[in-house]
Amino acid sequence: MMSKNEHISVRIPSFNENYSEIRRPKSYWRAWNQLSRFQRSLIYMLVIISFFMVLYFIPNTDNVILNVDGSERTTINRNVLVGESKHDEVFAGPTNDRQRAIVEAFRHAWTGYKKFAWGHDNLKPISEGYSEWFGLGLTIVDSIDTIYIMGLKEGTIVDSIDTIYIMGLKEEYEDARNWIEEHLHFTNNRDVNLFEVTIRVLGGLLGIYHLTGDRMFLNKALDLGDRLLPSFATETGIPYSDINLFTKTAHPPKWSPDSSTAEVTTIQLEFRDLSRASGDPKYENAVRKISEHIHNLHKQDGLVPIFINPNSGQFSYYEYLLKQWLQTGKTIDFFRDDYLQAIDGIQKSLVKRTLPNGFLFLGELLAGGKDFKPKMDHLTCFLPGTLALGTHHGLPTSHLKLAEELLTTCYQTYAQQPTFLAPEITYFNIPNSENTNDIYVKTNDAHNLLRPEFIESLWYMHQLNGNSTYQDWGWEIFQAFEKYTKVTNGYTSIGNVRNAAAVKPKDMMESFFLGETLKYLYLLFGDDPKVLDLDRYVLNSEAHPLPVYNS
Ligand SMILES: *[C@@H]1O[C@H](CO)[C@@H](O)[C@H](O)[C@H]1NC(C)=O
Repeated sequence: MMSKNEHISVRIPSFNENYSEIRRPKSYWRAWNQLSRFQRSLIYMLVIISFFMVLYFIPNTDNVILNVDGSERTTINRNVLVGESKHDEVFAGPTNDRQRAIVEAFRHAWTGYKKFAWGHDNLKPISEGYSEWFGLGLTIVDSIDTIYIMGLKEGTIVDSIDTIYIMGLKEEYEDARNWIEEHLHFTNNRDVNLFEVTIRVLGGLLGIYHLTGDRMFLNKALDLGDRLLPSFATETGIPYSDINLFTKTAHPPKWSPDSSTAEVTTIQLEFRDLSRASGDPKYENAVRKISEHIHNLHKQDGLVPIFINPNSGQFSYYEYLLKQWLQTGKTIDFFRDDYLQAIDGIQKSLVKRTLPNGFLFLGELLAGGKDFKPKMDHLTCFLPGTLALGTHHGLPTSHLKLAEELLTTCYQTYAQQPTFLAPEITYFNIPNSENTNDIYVKTNDAHNLLRPEFIESLWYMHQLNGNSTYQDWGWEIFQAFEKYTKVTNGYTSIGNVRNAAAVKPKDMMESFFLGETLKYLYLLFGDDPKVLDLDRYVLNSEAHPLPVYNS
């Protein structure tokens, strides 16, 4: 505002200009009178048509939002959203056989969930039951935007190649929406994890709000945001990791006095978006403190500490650095700079190659940087996608090279298993280790939880270079899910990817299978790269799309 006041430009019209401005209306009037009645009607019609067109395209500027108690929130003007245009037309339903197969898989999973676990967090598809984690209907909230993205707009039913899929999803969308409206309350008297609830539930509600403009979702998000905020009432502003949504009391995890750095730095996208969407700055203010605190920590200690303990969770901190830079319209430089430094550090300290085939992987550094562990969690396979996203936005092309090589290694973690499914953790053969194969798996790490990270990266890479190999890889993996994880009532995690004859089903379908894995597969097989345009949306770490803002 200050700078605006300092730069008010005052235009003083010259006498000549003044004179002509006074004259002009008269000559217009004369010209108007000389028109025929037909010409005048034509102009009237054009004016009316333009008026309605302007009305249609003007974004919704009505910012009044009700508090939970029904009172009106004070609002500030929303920033103009880059991503907030009518986007419905692109969610036109599946356009090819692969996409149709994914929608079918989604419906299969959803049907089981609805039958045996409706309103609960996760389906146990084999015992025909459910498991409760936070008691927040996680599968519904996590996957309602997947349903939406897979296409349900009424207008598209006529045009769609396959009406039935669209109709089916419309019904599923309405079931999900109604459940959220009527049954999603944040009054369970139990502790929830700030990070998990933020990325899944807050992110899920905001994602579907931005896709549909349905205020009910935003009001739910605000209720949840208000209940999560007490976590931040600490001396440093670094939030406690656990909070009871009913009593609104927060505390650190039972097993440690600290909150995990990775977790508290992976909630900013959602809280910032909640402020931008509602006009109430308090959520963004709360997380800004964390960002600044962590940023200053780096300056103090140098970069080393973030690389010493790069368990996969901590990589998501790098992801959020980049995505916050994008979310704020590339206006906050320190996000980009910290991200670039982090990737430099990764390249220097963590990147190694396997024997004998030279696959590139990221290992882990423990014990003050002395103890290198040649192992990589499947979770790390989201990183190629993040790197590619950065490159798309002008960051160094060397990142893309790293992304391609890492993606190839991630593919190997799938392709080298007899099930064509990756284990949770893969070890790599480096000089002086006793193995002969490039990669190997330990018994305790041989499970597969239907995780999305590799598919996520395939989608980003395919978005950015259109290489259809990435679609083919995704299709191969989907076939493996179909073959080894599909059961009568849904899909299940398995205990052993190393034995195609005995995969040991674990009787668990995590919400992220519907919320992320199937969403990214559907998007990956899409023909139109402008669906969830990467210049208009950032996807949070649970695949919920949030708009890019100007600042
Ligand atoms: C597509 O990606 C694959 C896997 O990385 C690579 O082998 C192939 O050369 C790429 N094709 C093109 C045309 O870039």
